[in-house]
Amino acid sequence: MILIIDFGSQTAHLIGRRLRQLGVEVAYAYPEDALSTIKTQKPKGIIFSGGPNDISHDATLSIDTRVLTLGIPVLGICYGWQLIAYLLGGTVEHSKKEFGPEDIIFDTQPGIFSLPKKQFTAIMSHGDTVTKLPKGFMAVGHTKQVAYAAVINKHKNLYGIQFHPEADHTQYGLVLLKNFAKAVCGETLNPLALDPKKIIASIMDTVGNKKVICAVSGGVDSTVTAYLIGKAIGKNLIPVYVDSGLMRPETDRRVKYIFTKLIHANLIIIDAKRRYLDTLKGITDPEEKRKAIGKLYIDIFNEIAKKHADATFLAQGTIFSDVIESKGSKHASKIKSHHNVGGLPDNVPFQLLEPMREYYKDEVRELGKLAGLPEDVINQQPFPGPGYAVRIRGEVTEKRLAQVIIADTIVLEEMKCAGLYENVFQCFAVMTGAFSTAVKGDGRVFAEVVGIRAFESRDIMTSRWAHIPYEVLEKMSSRIVNEVPNVSRVVYDITTKPPATMEWE
Ligand code: XMP
Repeated sequence: MILIIDFGSQTAHLIGRRLRQLGVEVAYAYPEDALSTIKTQKPKGIIFSGGPNDISHDATLSIDTRVLTLGIPVLGICYGWQLIAYLLGGTVEHSKKEFGPEDIIFDTQPGIFSLPKKQFTAIMSHGDTVTKLPKGFMAVGHTKQVAYAAVINKHKNLYGIQFHPEADHTQYGLVLLKNFAKAVCGETLNPLALDPKKIIASIMDTVGNKKVICAVSGGVDSTVTAYLIGKAIGKNLIPVYVDSGLMRPETDRRVKYIFTKLIHANLIIIDAKRRYLDTLKGITDPEEKRKAIGKLYIDIFNEIAKKHADATFLAQGTIFSDVIESKGSKHASKIKSHHNVGGLPDNVPFQLLEPMREYYKDEVRELGKLAGLPEDVINQQPFPGPGYAVRIRGEVTEKRLAQVIIADTIVLEEMKCAGLYENVFQCFAVMTGAFSTAVKGDGRVFAEVVGIRAFESRDIMTSRWAHIPYEVLEKMSSRIVNEVPNVSRVVYDITTKPPATMEWE
């Protein structure tokens, strides 16, 4: 087993997912519990994750130095590596930031760093850097900015990397983790296939013959969740779709198709369009917006609870990236509040059922496919729970909602028409809240700028903006300025994640 010490990185859990994917057993511990967990669980290797703290400032989250002297191999990633360096007498400074993809160049590639190429792209996300190595460490890889991007202390079996091997967009990251697990820690690899039958059996076990209300949005996560629950408990599943008016135009039809044709369930649709628009009036801050939407969602579910007093469980399509972004671990930062995570009040009269909570998006898709959901349901692009509200920078008004829906529909249509829709993880239009000047019909127009965002990703944690052909962008731009009322300009967002999140809000 490999023990991951969670210093609060957004990708700490993803390290474990990669190792699980390789067939390695993993466990997690917070730094303050590391020594006791090592004693009881006896890991063959330890990984220090990254984290949001700064070693160069006071708020350092540390660990008992004895962890580094037990003879168990330790790999420090990002903050984890900086902490090793700091604890062993090196220097960490607030300088030479890197956010996003960088070229890493290896001078030599011993053991763990035995990778297919000497130079490749790696994902970086750091403000601090190790500027003086501790005694006994040797630098083996660097980037343009960072001298000690990959280091090794062979004698003590300690390894440090400034980049993130767990990120999907780090080339050979998985090979590096495999090298650490197999060659350095001596793990045997037994990859386990995903198995929906096991999840269905566990739902049957938990739920028995009780009733489950399942919040569905027509999206992949809640659909797979409801589908597996439906397979487990049949007619005792009650899917509920709250129509907020903030979803893509075809969502209504899609939800009806899935939950009456594919799953013969007693679908309940609640029309709450007016309530959502009224609630959002005057709100401009993204987090306030999410909270207001979350609160209304919970109010509506409380109303549903009163009507369905015979239901015991409330099921949600929560997946792991929702959990981590909503401060899902003790030392992590909150990036965005997902109202399905920690948003429910304590007095909701249901037990929560979240069978997808430990899985990532690509795993959820795979589980849905293995369970028998059709490709078009599985492959549809994800859509955020607060819907278009977080794609309208600033206040959501009926007029701006109507604008974003037309612009977004154009982006989707053009991507589908060019055969590119399934090549990207998400593509959409944003009302940016910025205004610019245009000339339309010889008159001056000062109107809103629409942004287009499209990116590739597998697990949501990292992404690269999609290199859409100019001709397709040109078509979208021309259609948006012509077909969407009161738009002056169209821009294309060319920012990777990290640092930029996928949504603008
Ligand atoms: P970000 O913008 O955080 O997006 O990089 C990652 C993924 O999550 C979706 N997203 C949300 N989903 N509630 C949701 O249910 C939210 O508040 C929310 N914010 C972002 C986003 O569309 C992307 O797929």
